[in-house]
Amino acid sequence: MTVHLAPSILAADFARLAEQVALVEQGGADFIHVDVMDGHFVPNITMGPLVVRALSRVTALPLDVHLMITDPDRYLDAFVSAGAARITVHAEASPHLHRTITRIRELGARAGVAINPSTPVGAISEVIACLDQVLVMSVNPGFGGQSFIPESFAKITRVRQLLAAAGSQAEIEVDGGVDHANAASLVAAGATILVAGVAVFGAPDPAAATRALRQAATNRH
Ligand code: DX5
Ligand code: ZN
Repeated sequence: MTVHLAPSILAADFARLAEQVALVEQGGADFIHVDVMDGHFVPNITMGPLVVRALSRVTALPLDVHLMITDPDRYLDAFVSAGAARITVHAEASPHLHRTITRIRELGARAGVAINPSTPVGAISEVIACLDQVLVMSVNPGFGGQSFIPESFAKITRVRQLLAAAGSQAEIEVDGGVDHANAASLVAAGATILVAGVAVFGAPDPAAATRALRQAATNRH
């Protein structure tokens, strides 16, 4: 499967967001990953539909919106109207997961479910047929720049097996501590979307860092 790169603007300079997004677009990014945090499901507070709308005006790249919020159902319409092309909700925050992801698709966006490091892969097993992507959190959500949790490799493999057994073509997205050193191994384990914050926007040249990440991700040994 093709590997997609989704730089996370959480690590970007928010005062220069349009320029920062243009840089990763030049570097060959496939999606822009937008981390929405509510200070409730996770300890941090970031951005909402207004920022998604502003981004949609300055980039042609699909906006990959990661909702780390309690009760995501209340905000699905707002994020899709603002320009979200892909919406991922957390299994831990969505008691009616089937309804939630069905609604995302009805609104015309691709639907994803994220699972925290402590959540077993079985949390997605009953909704695979309605899923476009599974997001494996490789850090505990809430902050950028954390260390990658090594058990995530085996977890990605288990998700890949689960999807294959169900005949699903859903993408496997990995998020947290992804960098140039672990990209190839993540792709080998089955990841098809790599989210990277600090590894891209923490670099002096985010365009070059995006190109280097592409090179690293396709460099299988
Ligand atoms: C963490 C967010 C991530 C974060 C990744 O809760 O979901 O998308 O931006 O940042 P890095 O790549 O810096 O770990
Ligand atoms: Zn994220």
